[in-house]
Amino acid sequence: MPHSPPMYTHYTDDPVEAAKFISSDKLVVFPTETVYGLGGNALSVAAVESIYEAKRRPSSNPLIVHVGAIADLSRVVKEITPSAHAFMEAFFPGPITLVLPRHPSLPKVVSGGLDTIAIRMPSLPVSLRFLRAVGFPVAAPSANLSGRPSATTWRSAAEDLDGRVSCILRGPNAIVGLESTVVDCTGRSPILLRSGAVSLDALSSVVSDISTDAPNISRSPGLRYHHYAPSARVCIISTPDEAAPGDHAGYIGLAPPDSDAQFKKCVVARDVEEYSHNLFEFFRECDRSGVTMIYCQSLAETGLAYALMDRIKRAAKAAK
Ligand code: TXA
Ligand code: MG
Repeated sequence: MPHSPPMYTHYTDDPVEAAKFISSDKLVVFPTETVYGLGGNALSVAAVESIYEAKRRPSSNPLIVHVGAIADLSRVVKEITPSAHAFMEAFFPGPITLVLPRHPSLPKVVSGGLDTIAIRMPSLPVSLRFLRAVGFPVAAPSANLSGRPSATTWRSAAEDLDGRVSCILRGPNAIVGLESTVVDCTGRSPILLRSGAVSLDALSSVVSDISTDAPNISRSPGLRYHHYAPSARVCIISTPDEAAPGDHAGYIGLAPPDSDAQFKKCVVARDVEEYSHNLFEFFRECDRSGVTMIYCQSLAETGLAYALMDRIKRAAKAAK
């Protein structure tokens, strides 16, 4: 891939100003309630190709198309299936992504050549103001370099992407902190492809025959790639006394470590929401401060903790 020289990155708090960059086929980092996104015009092949390049992402890993209004979907999906309709009623706008048949006129490159397309309408007010000011669909993966933890603050997005995008829309720290739930709605029964803040229980209360076992990994191409990994090693423990404290160790969990156990970085979260909200920024903070071993306390995998443990397990598995 040709190496492009660094570009000037403009910073703004104004979603309307940021939207103008998208209209001229430039890339914009923008906030959402899950993680920050790296957006470009979904209808422009050139803009979409530059997203893959900016993120150093393989072009076979499909992007999510973000909309600010349901009407924008008419240029993105061929049909809204009954299960997708039910999930949209229940959870749009919100931290959920639905995979549907792709509209034939939408560039194939957006979904890595697949006949399907992932769609999402974020709920954060500034995301909606931005997307509505753009007025057309915006393709956006998470705003991190491929293989790094997703960015949950604009500063972390800037750490990876300053000089690689035209604009960074500064917003609040992501509330959820984990990427959206992804559900394949193309078949007779929906399939959960990636867990997130919309839990399996919440999904099955809307469509009861949802399954979790993706029969074919090609349905969820993102799962083939290493994700969410800090440079430090990640070790999963049940209680903080299983960790070896020290100058190069970090700990995150719900249970507080012994008062004399010294960690270079330590987060004791109040509940699973706060743990999830902090996880990716904690990974990045550990990397910034020279931590080489991160201990994460495991939780019983129900509700949001199912998604949290999914991200922690992937980080623990990633080759170092
Ligand atoms: O919360 C989120 O979803 C964030 C914000 C910015 O919206 N975006 C995000 O995008 O996490 P990304 O590209 O990092 O992850 C998208 C996931 C990948 O695992 C990808 O493989 C899957 O969604 N995906 C996208 N399109 C798909 C498709 N057509 N079929 C199956 N999986 C798809
Ligand atoms: Mg990602």
